[in-house]
Amino acid sequence: MKGIVLAGGLGTRLLPLTKITNKHLLPVYDKPMIYYPLQTLINAGIKDIMIVTGGNNAGEFLRLLGNGRRFGLKDISYTYQEGEGGIAEALSLAEDFADGEKVLIVLGDNVIGKDIIREKEEFEKQKEGAKILIKKVSHPENFGVPVLNGDKVIGIEEKPKKPKSQYAVTGIYMYDSRVFDIIKTLERSDRGELEITDVNNAYIKAGTMTCSELDGWWIDAGSSPENLAEATQLVMKTGANNLG
Ligand code: DAU
Repeated sequence: MKGIVLAGGLGTRLLPLTKITNKHLLPVYDKPMIYYPLQTLINAGIKDIMIVTGGNNAGEFLRLLGNGRRFGLKDISYTYQEGEGGIAEALSLAEDFADGEKVLIVLGDNVIGKDIIREKEEFEKQKEGAKILIKKVSHPENFGVPVLNGDKVIGIEEKPKKPKSQYAVTGIYMYDSRVFDIIKTLERSDRGELEITDVNNAYIKAGTMTCSELDGWWIDAGSSPENLAEATQLVMKTGANNLG
């Protein structure tokens, strides 16, 4: 299975912090934000990783992470997303890199407290389809929200005014190689993006989506200054992934 960190986008919700640097290079406690999703993939046993970046200061990722040897990787692949066409658009740039294998994706601003080895192994055994990880949150309206029937997900609504569950779909996604064909069929949303929620709903419709509740804390560090501060507090107090 290959790993992808999506770190494109312009980070406008964190202006002026993101005026002169890339959101994913901002500090979360003692490390740049991108270290955490990268460590999530490494801890899950993924060795082949691509970083999709974009926006400001994309070259700085190379300066920061280099060829990945320092983190025990043989190499890191990079690509560049022009503009801010959405998470699914950023993912589409990794099609050649994926080369027909399953992919484990972590959004560049998602920080978690525990590893996801178990979930990744479950997906390795899954014959086809996709897997999402969900987490109970106090403000589901800020996220993709799963509509649940028991422990089965029957739909996902992106930032709904009236959420149908207390859960958020976290930015950790697992897909089979069909994902790239699905992205090719998507239309842009009202905000002009190719939405990852549309990708997930296509898998749900096909009956091949599974869903697990994420163990340990999860935070979308890049979505507001408050979340960025909270991520720092969480990492400082409880520790998270530790990339040297
Ligand atoms: O964090 C989980 C949430 O992430 C999900 O619950 C939502 O369903 C999903 O749409 C997404 O919502 P956000 O509004 O938080 O996404 P945001 O625009 O902040 O993008 C999250 C990351 O995705 C960002 O740190 C980098 C990457 N990204 C985003 C865009 C829009 C890209 O690589 N390219 C892009 O064009």
